[in-house]
Amino acid sequence: MKSILITGGAGFIGSHTCLQLLQQDYFLYILDSYVNSSPKIAERLDKLLCQINQKLRDKFKFIEGDIRDESMIDGIFKCSINENRPIEGVIHFAGLKSVAESVSSPSLYWDVNVGGTIKLIRIMEKYSCRTIVFSSSATIYSENNRSPLSEDSEIKPYNPYGQTKANIENLLKDLYTSNDSCWRVINLRYFNPIGAHPSGLIGEEPRGKINNLFPYLNQVASGNIKELKIYGNDWPTIDGTGVRDYIHIMDLADAHCLALNYLIKEKKATLLSINIGTGRGTSVLQLLKTFESVNSCKIPFRFVDRRLGDIAISYASNDLASSILSWRPKRNLSNMCIDGWRWQKLNPYGYE
Ligand code: NAD
Ligand code: UD1
Repeated sequence: MKSILITGGAGFIGSHTCLQLLQQDYFLYILDSYVNSSPKIAERLDKLLCQINQKLRDKFKFIEGDIRDESMIDGIFKCSINENRPIEGVIHFAGLKSVAESVSSPSLYWDVNVGGTIKLIRIMEKYSCRTIVFSSSATIYSENNRSPLSEDSEIKPYNPYGQTKANIENLLKDLYTSNDSCWRVINLRYFNPIGAHPSGLIGEEPRGKINNLFPYLNQVASGNIKELKIYGNDWPTIDGTGVRDYIHIMDLADAHCLALNYLIKEKKATLLSINIGTGRGTSVLQLLKTFESVNSCKIPFRFVDRRLGDIAISYASNDLASSILSWRPKRNLSNMCIDGWRWQKLNPYGYE
């Protein structure tokens, strides 16, 4: 069994990925500061594993700590050696992800996202662990590209959050290019993950101000928010509303398993950047109508001005994910809406 460090593993994408990895031949050290997640995730994962297979239950360990604390990360690697299961790879989710907050607090974003990654890399080098899957984002692509966005589209982030992601990719590229090491790196560039595990036991728990569309839909459907404000109906799209590439969180989790398995098997230095999206664009109104129809509910909405920094259309070319990782999305928009709403109904107050 191989041991893997998962940073930010209590978060939305991390928790679903942990669940999938635990059903494979991996032991997980899961590091999280819980700045944007709940320690209760450990109980939920345990409950789910209990239902799937009792034998999977003792295959993970949660560690509370900050990615910027180098000696703490060192301690995790040391502990993994003492426990006779040295960490052989890392999936690096930990970071801050609000575009709006990154505009108002850029230094915090550079400190946590870039500074935190540097600390992690230094310790990985110390322990000769040079395998990493990194959470990048479609937000690094230039606004001027036309969808479908392929991995060689122009990179030109337009907000500090995107800058930190692009710069971490640059750092990983420099490591890969350095002569005397053999780094194996996959940057996964996610599009718009939504939905939840079909059990309704784990899902997205947005904290603070909600910015993204799907959590907003859930809140309106719950009656906590009166109506959805749709940012513009004059975009050059099928119905005038913004088009994005929504992807089921479980499909995204599967992509991480495939990326990690690929790197663990690979013997030579590797650097890959791979889009993870369905390759299909969906407008705000199309998502809203699907949500209403599959969940038999009504979502009141109103058109308002465009949101600053938005673009009309963004969806992926996923040819590389398909050819290199043999990854294909298995769940459709209806699954995303049904599973996401089930999570919301069963957990109106999140993990509390
Ligand atoms: P999330 O906030 O749910 O998960 C991130 C986790 O990292 C949280 O559990 C948080 O507590 C933890 N964390 C934050 N700062 C930390 C620190 N200093 N030390 C230790 N832990 C820390 O977000 P998510 O949606 O699961 O995203 C995971 C990663 O994927 C992030 O890096 C994000 O930027 C990236 N990403 C997300 C999306 C998206 O739409 N959700 C899109 C593209 C990229
Ligand atoms: C946003 C971020 C992006 C980040 C992504 C995933 C901005 C400008 N971009 O992208 O960097 O990678 O989230 O975290 O913040 N919409 C509404 N009403 C709402 C919310 C959204 O109409 O209340 C619309 C938006 O205009 C957009 C679509 O819904 O057309 C999706 O929005 P959102 O979920 O915020 O994702 P992105 O815009 O892709």
